[in-house]
Amino acid sequence: MAPKGVTETTEAQIAVHWKEEAYIHPSAKFIGQANLTDPAIVERFSEEHFPECFREYADLLSWDRYWHTTLDTSHPPFWQWFVGGRLNVSYNCVDRHLAKHKNKAALIFVPEPEEEPVYTVTYQELFIRVNEVAAVLRDFCGLKTGDRVTIHMPMIPELPITMLACARLGIVHSVVFGGFSGEAAGLRAADSGSRVMIYVDGYSRNGKIVDHKPSADIAVETAAKEGQKVDKVLVWRRYQGRNLSTKPMVQGRDYFMDEVLKNFKRAKVDPVSMDAEAPLFLMYTSGSTGKPKGCQHRTGGYLAYVTGTSKYYQDIHPEDVYWCMADIGWITGHSYIVYGPLALAATSVLYEGVPTYPDAGRVWRIAEQLAVNIFHTSPTAIRMLRKAGPDEPKKYHYHFKHMTTVGEPIEPETWRWYYEVVGKREAVIVDTWWQTENGGFLCTTKPAMDPMKPGSAGPPALGIFPFIYDEAGKEVAIGSGRAGNICIRNPWPGIMQTIWGDNDRFVRQYYQKYCKNPDSKKWQDWPYFASDGAVLPADGYYRILGRVDDVINVAGHRLGTKELESACLTVPGVAEAAVIPVVDEIKGRMPVVYLALKPGVSDEKRVVAEIVHTIETMIGKIARPKDVYIVPDLPKTRSGKIMRRVLAAISNTIDTGDVTTLANPDIVETIRQQVQGTGPVVLKEGPEDIKRFGEQE
Ligand code: WTA
Repeated sequence: MAPKGVTETTEAQIAVHWKEEAYIHPSAKFIGQANLTDPAIVERFSEEHFPECFREYADLLSWDRYWHTTLDTSHPPFWQWFVGGRLNVSYNCVDRHLAKHKNKAALIFVPEPEEEPVYTVTYQELFIRVNEVAAVLRDFCGLKTGDRVTIHMPMIPELPITMLACARLGIVHSVVFGGFSGEAAGLRAADSGSRVMIYVDGYSRNGKIVDHKPSADIAVETAAKEGQKVDKVLVWRRYQGRNLSTKPMVQGRDYFMDEVLKNFKRAKVDPVSMDAEAPLFLMYTSGSTGKPKGCQHRTGGYLAYVTGTSKYYQDIHPEDVYWCMADIGWITGHSYIVYGPLALAATSVLYEGVPTYPDAGRVWRIAEQLAVNIFHTSPTAIRMLRKAGPDEPKKYHYHFKHMTTVGEPIEPETWRWYYEVVGKREAVIVDTWWQTENGGFLCTTKPAMDPMKPGSAGPPALGIFPFIYDEAGKEVAIGSGRAGNICIRNPWPGIMQTIWGDNDRFVRQYYQKYCKNPDSKKWQDWPYFASDGAVLPADGYYRILGRVDDVINVAGHRLGTKELESACLTVPGVAEAAVIPVVDEIKGRMPVVYLALKPGVSDEKRVVAEIVHTIETMIGKIARPKDVYIVPDLPKTRSGKIMRRVLAAISNTIDTGDVTTLANPDIVETIRQQVQGTGPVVLKEGPEDIKRFGEQE
């Protein structure tokens, strides 16, 4: 038997689903114009030149003071990058472009209602607006360098403007995805110690106005329960002179941003020169325990990493129109809508709404209208667009030179539609693997230098040295066909600094598992454990198999099963809850809830409705379960541990394995019949993350 955590899956077995695909080469036209074509750069980023190679990324920035030490490893795994250097992120993303690009579009905002005109923010206007908002934060809110601010906003230009205003002052922003609930935002505000929250009255989503202000009231209340007083709520208005919310403003706490801004017209705020190691922002993400953790990203290393990777892997040139169709409330949006592209003086498109609103052609119309030539999105969006209108892209006269897929594994079939129909066989594709914790890309092809392989993220990014470990900490040989845990051997400038307020958890979560010697000051002894399964065929193209912890990747968004289970347990009548992932044709994975009720509880309908409602209010609509099953009992080991793996096997129609050693083996068949019916069932092979689900418990 293979050691625990290493499946015996061979390449041949995996090939049942995802066979080794043939290479596809970038076009001569793309190569002819690409930023990264020089093999000498690859050589400069080889292991022997680490860590100094990353100077090349940092040199893309404007520093107030140059650093003296590229990488300081004296407190592993708390690496320090570009030590001694000083810079300001808002200066780098805005001010420094004014000399050459002041009249260039920095942001192009596309409102969801199609009849509303597109709105362009030039670099000059961005400069003016960022300064004014910074003045509000400093002089009206009394915020100063190092303070935290929670921003719970959708995709409107005021979101990046607010982020850049924070960065101008060295205020640490924590942006919470607009689709998260008020309660989720409040918990994050409390954890980060934010006394100011920033909202919008409402926004357009799928043709309807979402009233967002009520979330602010819930967030403030939730934060208060956690002991954090929020004394000011700034509310942007989506439309000038109108209020989209029915909720009244709380006197002395809530302020319309446009009204406050009247007192700060033409205000100028000097960018604060920040230490390269000062925190720039927090991004909360789900991990293995109930509570989301605040990934803390640094100023210098982060900006250097996203700027370098935007230049080389997104291939952004000054004349390009770049559209990353992600949400700024996720790490992809921070790194590859806002900071990376703006540091390069790019034109970055922001779309407010749903990709298929009002019809399946919307995305391609936007691409045509704005002459977008670089496009970036997730497999879920691609699957959704394909399902809604497989031939729509052909009707529109846009031309992409480059496309990205990110956030989940992409099936070769979906990849091929992306390549052939969306990209019209003209665009090169990069499949970029990375995580909230990482700041920027870790595995991706070099778009003009490496051939593409559908379904594979590809080789490591410049200066990144991964390997695959088995559970026992032994390296899984390249080409062995065995799956294991992908780890990164070296630090890199984009890696998070720590978990906000919890250094121990940071070490435990990412470094403890494979640390070779806790007393060592050598980075070589501290591999980063990513919590993803992967295989590495002989060609060196990593294939990411999905999470190996209890995180479910729903439509590219991470949800902790423990978070969902805690929410379920607050519903009266629920005795036990287990949440597992199920394969979904569009969203990749979706959560399924299994419940055992307390004795005497019989109103099952009420329980199911409350479960759904509770998950939506405590976490958000994205966490809505695909199914909720009430079962007589949950399968357990003799020591009383819930066997989530068995439930995942049942929901996904894969082999449950040997269940005879359970405390209650008979329940497995009862649940199986409840879920799969009593007729004959053909078992499926099942993807790796599902097969391995719950193994690490
Ligand atoms: C998954 C998103 C396969 C992976 C940037 C990771 C991917 C999690 C890919 C991080 C990819 C991301 N191929 N899987 N190209 N990119 N993932 O933190 O499981 O929201 O651990 O960061 O998404 O999600 P996060």
